[in-house]
Amino acid sequence: MKSILITGGAGFIGNHVVRQFVKKYPNYTIVNLDKLTYAGNLETLSDIEKSDNYHFVKACITDELAMHDIFAKYHITDVIHLAAESHVDRSITDPLVFLRTNILGTANLLNAAKTSWEDYSKHTFYHISTDEVYGSLGDSGLFKETTPYDPRSPYSASKASSDHLVRAYHHTYGMQIKISNCSNNYGPYQFPEKLIPLIINNIVQEKALPVYGDGSNVRDWLYVQDHVEAIDLIFHKGQNGETYNIGGNNEMQNLALVHILCESVDRILGRPQGEAKSRITFVKDRPGHDQRYAIDASKIKKELNWEPVTNVGTGVEKTVQWYLNNKVWLENVTSGAYKTYYEKHYGT
Ligand SMILES: NC(=O)c1ccc[n+]([C@@H]2O[C@H](COP(=O)([O-])OP(=O)(O)OC[C@H]3O[C@@H](n4cnc5c(N)ncnc54)[C@H](O)[C@@H]3O)[C@@H](O)[C@H]2O)c1
Repeated sequence: MKSILITGGAGFIGNHVVRQFVKKYPNYTIVNLDKLTYAGNLETLSDIEKSDNYHFVKACITDELAMHDIFAKYHITDVIHLAAESHVDRSITDPLVFLRTNILGTANLLNAAKTSWEDYSKHTFYHISTDEVYGSLGDSGLFKETTPYDPRSPYSASKASSDHLVRAYHHTYGMQIKISNCSNNYGPYQFPEKLIPLIINNIVQEKALPVYGDGSNVRDWLYVQDHVEAIDLIFHKGQNGETYNIGGNNEMQNLALVHILCESVDRILGRPQGEAKSRITFVKDRPGHDQRYAIDASKIKKELNWEPVTNVGTGVEKTVQWYLNNKVWLENVTSGAYKTYYEKHYGT
């Protein structure tokens, strides 16, 4: 019987992973551990919060005693670690919180696993990481699992550091580990500070649409449910000690993506085409802004037969529809209402 600790399960990617595991694997116990920072929202999981195999624990991954207690109380057999500070801009203004959570928090979790697990061959520690650890690409080339690390923001440096710690526990102590490094995710329940939900929200509210620099930076876009399927596969079938790159096969300049969002929202809301585009505002570039990320996902295709199934056209359309249909969620995460929801359900 597996009892899986999923950290960061109240966040964007985490809630989709928790939901899939709770529903698809009723024999597993799923423990969602989350500090509920501004990015964590339990309202997102209201559809599964009463499931028999689901537990929520509010805790900070840097809390040593709490981690040991949780491993003991829930007889944790495996970890899927997503909890992190995840927004590059915030890491530029407040790097230390990123170093504490992403580096020390990961080390603390690894240590709790190391001391709680007796026979490492029976357990897996799976770390969810980012392609940003590989640095920035020019016009050509793709990140492979063997690309040397070259992180450039406090966020990516903290994620690179946590990847190294996970590998160190594998090599030094023999812990079974897996790591995946993925490109930019998008889809339902993403906090509206990230590009896609920010632009959708601003178009709806008829605000300016900020685009960094000249909008030429290139990102690869991965629909969140495609990522969840990859995580599910890697967790169950990936090889011990291995890293897998996960990409969406959707490379695009930021400005081109913003244009697609403008056309989609204007069309769905019945507004004249061009109205949203007229509000695009080029703003001072992010310091150290990486020019291009692109993923070679051939290893996971070859070894685990995984490929993304959602292209950016379909994915953006589904995402826009979701945000337009979930205005209450959007208002709650951007206002104080979420605090009231939490206190009503879980106390202070
Ligand atoms: N979103 C992306 O495009 C993307 C891409 C590549 C990798 N990742 C990685 O995937 C993971 C999840 O990303 P996301 O976009 O869902 O992030 P998110 O910011 O939406 O969610 C992070 C969650 O972690 C929780 N958390 C933060 N600090 C914590 C702490 N100290 N203790 C316990 N919980 C804490 C937050 O409350 C939140 O629920 C992260 O590790 C991130 O680095 C994300």
